Amino acid sequence: MADEKTYSMIKPDGVRNGHIGEIVNRFERAGLKIERMELGMVSMEQAKANYAEHEGKPFYDGLISYITSGPVVKMVISGPGAVAKCRSLMGATNPAEAAPGTIRGDFGLIMDENVIHGSDSPASAEREIGIFFG
Ligand code: RTP
Ligand code: MG
Repeated sequence: MADEKTYSMIKPDGVRNGHIGEIVNRFERAGLKIERMELGMVSMEQAKANYAEHEGKPFYDGLISYITSGPVVKMVISGPGAVAKCRSLMGATNPAEAAPGTIRGDFGLIMDENVIHGSDSPASAEREIGIFFG
């Protein structure tokens, strides 16, 4: 399988709770490569662009204020099937339903603070890498 790129981001709760090293380790242990990595804030513009598909939904305002509330780790990750592999390591969106052994299953408890983001398709990945790494 040809190498693929995905965008992933350790969310403010993951950084605040000290899980950066463990999460990066899980991606590397799975054989994925960290191509770019940066600790910093998400601007309001980047947050709105990244979550444009959710505009108007009841959880949208909370999602935008949460993702801009503290430092995150922005990453470009590559490898064969990187988009799906990354999503599978992350686990289900709701940490309450995410399987033990997944990042959200192990480090999260609630939907609003679910530890990590990952692109949901190669097209989203290309768009999101553009938003965060220009
Ligand atoms: P993400 O984009 O953050 O990687 O998460 P995802 O693909 O697994 O889930 P998505 O449907 O894209 O939702 C984006 C984020 O919005 C919050 N959310 N809350 N209350 C709700 O029904 C609800 N639905 C989604 C979550 O924090 C989710 O990560
Ligand atoms: Mg999503």
